[in-house]
Amino acid sequence: MANSSYSREVASSGLAAGLRCLLLSFLSGEEPAASVLKFNAGFTLVILHTFVVLHCNVWSKLAARRFTAVCGDMARYARIPGSIALITLANPPVNALSAAVRKGITETLSRAIADPQVKAVVLCGENGNFCGGADIKEFAGPMSGPGLVPMIDAIEAGEKPVVAAIEGVALGGGLELALGCHYRIAHCKARVGLPEVTLGLLPAAGGTQRLPRLIGLSAALDLITTGRHVSAQEALQLGIVDRVTEEDTLEVAVEFAQSVAGQPLGTRRLSTCTPACPADLDSFLQGALARVRRRARGAMAPEACIHAVGAAATLPYSQGMQREQELMVSLFRSAQARALQYCFFSQRLAGKWSMPSGARWDSIKPRLIHRAAVIGLGTMGRGIAVSLVQAGITVVAVETDERQLEAGRRAVTALLERRSQGRGSEAPLGLLRFSADLQDLRRVELVIEAVFEDLALKQQVFRQLSAVCPADALLCTNTSGLDVEQLAACTRRPELVVGTHFFAPAHVMKLLEVVYGPRSSPVAVATAMHLGKRLEKVSVAVGNCPGFVGNRMLKPYLEQAHFLLEEGATPEQVDQALEEFGFAMGVFRVADLSGLDVGWRVRKEAGLTGPGVSPVELPRRRQGRRYSPLPDLLCEQGRLGQKTGRGWYLYESPGAREAQPDPWTHSFLQQYRQQHGLQPRPIHQQEVLERCLYALINEGFRVLEDGIAAGPEDIDVIYVFGYGWPRHRGGPMFHAAAVGLATVLDRLEHYHHAHPDIPNLQPSALLRRLIASGSPPIQKWREVMRSVRSQL
Ligand code: COA
Ligand code: ADP
Repeated sequence: MANSSYSREVASSGLAAGLRCLLLSFLSGEEPAASVLKFNAGFTLVILHTFVVLHCNVWSKLAARRFTAVCGDMARYARIPGSIALITLANPPVNALSAAVRKGITETLSRAIADPQVKAVVLCGENGNFCGGADIKEFAGPMSGPGLVPMIDAIEAGEKPVVAAIEGVALGGGLELALGCHYRIAHCKARVGLPEVTLGLLPAAGGTQRLPRLIGLSAALDLITTGRHVSAQEALQLGIVDRVTEEDTLEVAVEFAQSVAGQPLGTRRLSTCTPACPADLDSFLQGALARVRRRARGAMAPEACIHAVGAAATLPYSQGMQREQELMVSLFRSAQARALQYCFFSQRLAGKWSMPSGARWDSIKPRLIHRAAVIGLGTMGRGIAVSLVQAGITVVAVETDERQLEAGRRAVTALLERRSQGRGSEAPLGLLRFSADLQDLRRVELVIEAVFEDLALKQQVFRQLSAVCPADALLCTNTSGLDVEQLAACTRRPELVVGTHFFAPAHVMKLLEVVYGPRSSPVAVATAMHLGKRLEKVSVAVGNCPGFVGNRMLKPYLEQAHFLLEEGATPEQVDQALEEFGFAMGVFRVADLSGLDVGWRVRKEAGLTGPGVSPVELPRRRQGRRYSPLPDLLCEQGRLGQKTGRGWYLYESPGAREAQPDPWTHSFLQQYRQQHGLQPRPIHQQEVLERCLYALINEGFRVLEDGIAAGPEDIDVIYVFGYGWPRHRGGPMFHAAAVGLATVLDRLEHYHHAHPDIPNLQPSALLRRLIASGSPPIQKWREVMRSVRSQL
């Protein structure tokens, strides 16, 4: 509450005079109480209070402006009427806690503590964000400036209440900072969390010690080991924040600070509290460890998080903090942390797309899409329709006939209802219309075609779309690898045709490859990239070639897996090696899951199997190179994977998911080898990994050489988000750099020498060029790529 002489004087001065006086005092830097003494008139304390609440936002804005003008600090200090000090973090865009911000907070906090007029402090962030956490860019170099831990400890230890006013996000160090404050007020749209684990770290500014003391061990463990963001409402339920508001957060926080000024801080200092723990702590922690290990696929940070949170339960605060620091030291310089932080920045870099023409993300304005259509409601079309509707876009979903349409309608509706139930909201079914008539596309702004993967059929659909849709509607294809230009050529608007390659299931998987053909316009690409963002996808712009980036690189990887079976491996051995590397599923289990007939159809179309094969070809050679007919033979036996209850593995029944090793497959492989005179040999796990992964990586270098991906980061984002590459290994190109380019070259040369009939194993020119350039860090590869491309 306002101090009494100040109130008395303002109460007698009138509102306008009071405002003027406060403004004067503020600009002069004089204490408001002293300035106000100069005025006289008759208003009540209530009016003053209302005035303060209504205008503190104005004050904070004025304060922010004034202090920027004076010193440009990254933590600004302002005095607000009512004996409140306001500290505003000002480090756009997310107020990351850089050295300068930490210095600013330390200094402004000392100032607030030293000022006898200040009774409470409000801490907030500029531009609608409280704080996005530690500055990740600083992690690569030596740390300088005040430490986060002493800074947060000083906030907590102070005698004046500090209230965090959380708008936007309070993540990582941002939430740890808020946990050091004595109270937390959040805007209803705010999100909080401790996502350090996703960067290969743990919350090491007391997060693992304070959060369990605030919300109990079990809930804290969930948040810290997953890194998930929590909505303001959930944060309130969990007890992370004290109040959620739909009003102006700062105003509410200031009012709140006034109400708690002078009250004892006792249990508001979280470090002094005791965490609520499950009864049988040991078995709880053991169970958590086992669960996290299963999920982490070799990532170290989640396990370290459990040890740190466990310390909060078993050790006094200061020793728990010590344990937190020790665990952080073991993670901080780890290869996994480097890989995960590289992923963070690569994901953001992918949004900064460019085209060979020089068009860039920041120079082209995307169109905002309101009305879209999806053609074909198979597996992909259903997921795409759900994604669009969930983003608030009106969708016309089209199928060939009423029967297919009805099946599609039921599937899409069920998906939408299930997802809305999970979110506690109503399914947006009103945005969706179903039709078997292409004439219903007369008003759409964008169409996504998702019919069978058949070029002739897709061409026919594009001809129809070109005739029916408005002349400026964007026509997108969800092909997974067909030539986008051959579809564009069927339309009267080739510049408005792009590929939008979704991954199954399309409403879940994060990746979207946006494929530009030679005639795709920058606006078309910008619009598809922007649409991807609205659908909450990670979109990567790529060039047009068979398989684009992801599937093109997958081909040599799959080939190696089949060759390894011919040479003596079993599907289980290959899968185990890949799963131990960190893939969620090995190559054969994935094939069974997605259906072996998918690749079979593609190979038939390419003339690699079926009646199109030249009679002069040898059984294990096609088009002049080694070929393994193994997957074709399985399909011919009706073994299409999970859907038929058998594929590379055996399943209890069609549609069952538990893969069992199948003796049939083993004896089939034995017979095959005998028939082709192949002498099986023991194959070491290392060979499985090197042949599968280096073949894929080698193709990645070719993709870069050809200009199909703009940089290695784009490839890595595609593999991490679309193909289950373990995130803590950064992606295939990052992995190549981490292993050492010279090692990759050496192993490729070795295997190419042993298998000269596999051209994919021949090391790429770019790999050689990078090594000749001194194997620069991955961030510098683009420079070398430019020199390779310019010679083409
Ligand atoms: N440190 C340094 N830079 C950061 C950062 C951080 N903690 N958080 C975000 N940034 C940068 C991004 O790299 C990006 O930079 P760019 O514009 O040069 O590409 C910019 O801030 C905007 O981030 P972006 O992710 O594109 O914005 P958004 O609004 O979609 O998301 C966040 C904002 C805060 C949710 C998201 O950036 C995020 O999750 N940040 C990391 C939070 C975190 O893990 N903190 C713990 C650190 S140990
Ligand atoms: P995917 O797995 O790629 O989604 P599916 O085979 O599951 O492929 O689905 C393709 C869908 O496209 C089928 O439901 C089919 O009926 C539909 N379809 C095929 N041709 C057309 C067409 N000309 N117009 C609309 N839908 C079509």
